[in-house]
Amino acid sequence: MGTITAVRGFKDILPDETAKWQHIERTARSVFSSFGIREIKIPVLEKTELFSRGIGETTDIVEKEMYTFLDRDKESLTLRPEATASVIRAYIEHHLYATAPLLKLFTIGPMFRRERPQKGRFRQFHQINVEYLGEKDPRVDAELIFMLMHFLGKTGLPSLKLEINSLGCPMCRSLFRDRVVSFLETKKNDLCDDCKRRLTTNPLRIFDCKVPECKQTIAGAPVIIDFICAECSNHFEGVKGHLTALEIPYALTPTMVRGLDYYTNTAFEVTTNLLGAQNAVAGGGRYDGLVKLLGGPDLPGIGFAVGLDRLAALIPEEDFRFAECPHLFIAAMGDRAQDFSFRLANELRRQDIYVETDIGDKGLKSQMKRANKLGCSHTLIVGDAEMDNQRAILRDMTSGNQDEISLSSWEILSERLKATGKGR
Ligand code: HAM
Repeated sequence: MGTITAVRGFKDILPDETAKWQHIERTARSVFSSFGIREIKIPVLEKTELFSRGIGETTDIVEKEMYTFLDRDKESLTLRPEATASVIRAYIEHHLYATAPLLKLFTIGPMFRRERPQKGRFRQFHQINVEYLGEKDPRVDAELIFMLMHFLGKTGLPSLKLEINSLGCPMCRSLFRDRVVSFLETKKNDLCDDCKRRLTTNPLRIFDCKVPECKQTIAGAPVIIDFICAECSNHFEGVKGHLTALEIPYALTPTMVRGLDYYTNTAFEVTTNLLGAQNAVAGGGRYDGLVKLLGGPDLPGIGFAVGLDRLAALIPEEDFRFAECPHLFIAAMGDRAQDFSFRLANELRRQDIYVETDIGDKGLKSQMKRANKLGCSHTLIVGDAEMDNQRAILRDMTSGNQDEISLSSWEILSERLKATGKGR
């Protein structure tokens, strides 16, 4: 029988990579706690209507990319393509809006989109999602963006660019939509079949089309920022002013519309030039009508999602070489020494010291080879002679220094290992 491989676009994150992922998540949790952002855990499966209504029937995600199936009782269910709609569902379902005027939530987990897999683009990918719910002050937008940039900076990422735009409110958008449509009507033949259709269903989505001819055609089109009303404009000026006050540099990108229909006013993306075509590390924006659209009170919200897979790809592996290296490797020769090593290893582990041994009858050479490969900070060699004398050689793998220690007092050994830390 042949081997069974993972599904296309679904990947394993292997043990050598997970230290990086843990570092990112730890950093996120620590930053979020300073800003009072609390964790919410939500299901990966939802009723299909949540996404078709929330994200928009005529978006690429809903039209082409959702993993949707009929459950055994004929109910249509979908593996979540994003987290915002689910967070809002929970916010409404559990009346969380009554708990705080500005509720700050985060969630971390896998999302599913049936896109064409390529470098940096997967069908199962992972996001860190943050949503600020209930308040519309431009300071909220600026705090959220500041927090995102602070978090990305703390993970140690090189050269990131923050791009912002305003998508206005539904009123400004309808005027803009008319202008874009009349501009494109004359150039209809230059558009792909999808965009010809979008011209009547959802013209804003044409700005997102990846077909080069469409990109070229839309390049001369009017941009939304020139159509926003006074209120939206004031809001955007406020956001920009607060970002400047917080010393967050940004670039204005008037063609950025984001791929989900729920956005209003502030929209933003963080991009890098190190990932090729899939250059967005994070994206988000304000969505003031979404809570109401999903059946809740008329409350505003803003949030973002960071693509964990892309973030992890940007962080150099070397930084984590020693994150999971042992404090100590015990090489044991003979039955008595093996028993001793087994007890000592587990006693030290009880004290949060990471110890590796070779269980089973391996030669000294092969044990030392493994100790070396694991990158441990110290090794201890024990055999019959060491058992008889209750003394053994402890070797510091960084300096190469060796000294004799007593095997009857484990405390001294454990204090020394704790003081030096893990790895070389
Ligand atoms: P999004 O722009 O669709 O926004 O996704 C956010 C981030 O997820 C992207 O910038 C990218 O890093 C990552 N991402 C998206 N698709 C893939 C993929 N196929 N493979 C790998 N990474 C991917 C949202 O999802 C919104 N829900 C963000 C948001 C939250 N807006 C308001 N609140």
